[in-house]
Amino acid sequence: AYTAEPFVPERGGLPALRKAAAECRGCPLHRDATQTVFGNGDTDARVLIVGEQPGDQEDRQGKPFVGPAGRLLDRALAEAGIDPGQTYVTNAVKHFKFTSSGPGKRRIHKAPSLREMTACGPWLAAELAVVDPELIVILGATAGKALLGSSFRVTQQRGTLLEEEIHGRQTRVVATIHPSAALRADDREAVYQGLVSDLKVAARALD
Ligand code: URA
Ligand code: SF4
Repeated sequence: AYTAEPFVPERGGLPALRKAAAECRGCPLHRDATQTVFGNGDTDARVLIVGEQPGDQEDRQGKPFVGPAGRLLDRALAEAGIDPGQTYVTNAVKHFKFTSSGPGKRRIHKAPSLREMTACGPWLAAELAVVDPELIVILGATAGKALLGSSFRVTQQRGTLLEEEIHGRQTRVVATIHPSAALRADDREAVYQGLVSDLKVAARALD
């Protein structure tokens, strides 16, 4: 089976993890992507935020949530009263998965498979162990299924404080929609306000 497990170092904290993840060959996604996009933030962060996988901009820049979805996330976090200095931001899958199409070969995001999410899980487990956050914020259904299992339903579980076991750790979790959903929706403002209101639940849990 595909797995990142043999690539994950046992000590050295975030710097060692980041360095090792750059060389991960745990699943085929490293082949077409530009680089590993590891998590970003402080070891002492109070909140660990998990997205799905890097997008086009993230793949080019090597940092999570630096594209359009990231800008919307930053705005929503600020509006909810969550200080970016308190967050560690990462993804369930660390390489960009895409198909190229059209004459300009535009790279279109493809959802990661369960096998790829499972393969990449050891990186998230290691980030969780090192950061030891007070709260995990899950962005969207894909990350939700990766962390909480295939029965996860974002529509049912969003915006409430949950107690869950993730990679063997009992932790508090707030799930919400993926910010890119608010970029695509017809009623963008309403969808965005829903994101903010879920994030406020996370902010209150940190008070
Ligand atoms: N979407 C994600 O889920 N993660 C990113 O890093 C960027 C966009
Ligand atoms: Fe390794 Fe994850 Fe990249 Fe697959 S997606 S190669 S498991 S870092």
